[in-house]
Amino acid sequence: MAPTELQQYSLAQVAEHNKPNDVWMVIHDKVYDVTKFLAEHPGGEEVLIEFAGKEATADFDDVGHSTDAKEQMKQFLVGEILEAERKKKVTTGLTINKRAALIAGSAMAIGAGLALIFKAGSKK
Ligand code: HEM
Repeated sequence: MAPTELQQYSLAQVAEHNKPNDVWMVIHDKVYDVTKFLAEHPGGEEVLIEFAGKEATADFDDVGHSTDAKEQMKQFLVGEILEAERKKKVTTGLTINKRAALIAGSAMAIGAGLALIFKAGSKK
């Protein structure tokens, strides 16, 4: 399936949909309008209303929602959070890359050091 462009929303825009008759929430950087799902939610409408306009990722994951639930939530998807406000920031990737570079760099330095020692040893 070709990736479709999702409407981008800021967290502040999502926060405006925080009424019992207008419930949006953020789960894994995606924006869901669950207003029409409230009465059908097996976990009850209260929890959904509680997260109206908010970030619900951790709580959604904690419940251990089934694959069916994850499949079902796609029909309520209305957009995604602006890249700058997403949890998975690009900087996280950079941090990991930096760490990898540091480890690789250290390994090379140790290797070069060992090579010098061996070289010095073999001259004797
Ligand atoms: C688009 C969002 C959501 C969808 C489509 C959804 C769907 C479902 C479904 C299908 C179930 C039945 C069990 C399962 O299949 O896993 C369920 C149960 C439940 N959900 Fe959600 N859910 C959503 C968001 C949330 C959020 C934000 C919370 C907040 C804590 C929540 C709390 C619960 C609870 C407490 C149960 C009951 C678990 C149980 O009785 O074992 N859900 N949900």
